[in-house]
Formats: sequence, structure tokens, C-alpha cells
Amino acid sequence: MTVHIGAEPGQIAETVLMPGDPLRAQWAAENYLENAECVNRVRGMLGFTGTYKGNRVTIHGSGMGMPSLSIYANELIRDYGAKTLIRIGSCGAMQKHIGIRDVIIAMTASTLSTPSRGLFRELSFAPCADYGLLRAAADVAAKRGVPTHVGGIYSSDVFYDERPDLNEQMVRHGVLGVEMEAAELYTVAARYGARALAVLTVSDHLITEEALPSEDRERSFGDMVEIALEAAFS
Ligand code: HPA
Repeated sequence: MTVHIGAEPGQIAETVLMPGDPLRAQWAAENYLENAECVNRVRGMLGFTGTYKGNRVTIHGSGMGMPSLSIYANELIRDYGAKTLIRIGSCGAMQKHIGIRDVIIAMTASTLSTPSRGLFRELSFAPCADYGLLRAAADVAAKRGVPTHVGGIYSSDVFYDERPDLNEQMVRHGVLGVEMEAAELYTVAARYGARALAVLTVSDHLITEEALPSEDRERSFGDMVEIALEAAFS
């Protein structure tokens, strides 16, 4: 047990999928894993361990935002030995050619600040995805015919953004989408020598202002779970 995770030693798999929402973790475990058992419910943050095609997997919520994700990523890697962590979540598209429901695979994540910022002081660390995972996820998505974009994203600390000028700079510099967790996941994974990736579904569009209808969210989320699981074990 750690401060935030109630699992016994050995109850967390080396491969962990991390949706933001704990109920999404439950849904993914029930629909994609065999013999899934709940291994964490501390503070309502649910984690489940089971198998996918014979491989052990944990699906554990991260919560929203980098401070929350940082707590779980640190404990999962440092205390439970997680070695591959894949965020599955939603993002807002920042380029016109990207459509609602498309998948974005984050090669890198720009950010104003992460919980690791203090460590780097004046240095601007460039968080990046594990290349093998990224390539595998892009291959799986292409084989499944899912419209997919690979490139840089923006990990913001705020959903209700009072600095639209920052979004403008991100758009101008070709950033594909905005979410709130990947930069810290990549940074913590790098610190401990773990592999990390973020696979994101576009749920809303910052330029066209379209949004994914709620009835489509489950199907899009399912695509991401499958891309992440197949990439993890390819
Ligand atoms: N901003 C930040 N995070 C998000 C967004 C957004 O527009 N959409 C989905 N996650």
C-alpha cells in the first residue's frame, strides 16, 4: 500500500493504462480485460488488474490535471514497479485538418509548468513519448483505419483558460491538441526509466467549436483502449 493506492505488492501489472476518469477505468477493465479485479479504491480512484490476451494489465485512473496524475504515476512506477504507462484520454483539437473523434498520439507535450518544474529550474525540459510505443500505436491505429495524427500536444494546467494568447501560439506552432496530463506523465516516466505514451481522442475542437456527441464517446474511448493494449504488447 502507498499513500494513494491500496493495492498489495504484486497486484499492479507492469503495464498500466491511465484514463483520467476512474469510472472509465472500470468500464475499460470490464469490457477489455479478463478476470479483472479491483485493486484500488482509495479516494474513489479506481484501479483494476486483469489480463489482455494473456498479458497482465492494470487500468488505473489518473484524475484530472498534472498534480493528480503525478501522484499516481510516481507511486505506480516507484512503489509498484510499473514499466509501461499509457494515458488514454480526450483532448481539444488545435488544427483545422483534425476532426472530432480523430486520434492524436503525442510525440511530445509542451507545457507552461508541470509538478516537476521546480526540479529543472531555468531549464525547459522536453517531455517525449517512448518511440517504440509510439510507433506501435501509430501502426495499430493505421491498421484499424482510425484517422490518426502524430505530433506535439499542449498539456495545460487549466481547462477554463484565461490566456487565449497561449493557445494561439500553440496553434501557430503546429501543436495538434490540448489536454492536461501528458507532459508530467512523460517526465515522471523518463525520471524512472519507464516507457510512456498518450493516446487521445479529439472530444472538442478549439477552432471549429464542434464537440463529440455524448453517445459517441464510448465508442471512441473503446478505440483508444484497443490501440493502447495492442501497442503495449506488440
Ligand atoms: N482543454 C483542456 N483539456 C481538454 C480539452 C480542452 O479544450 N478538451 C479535452 N481535454
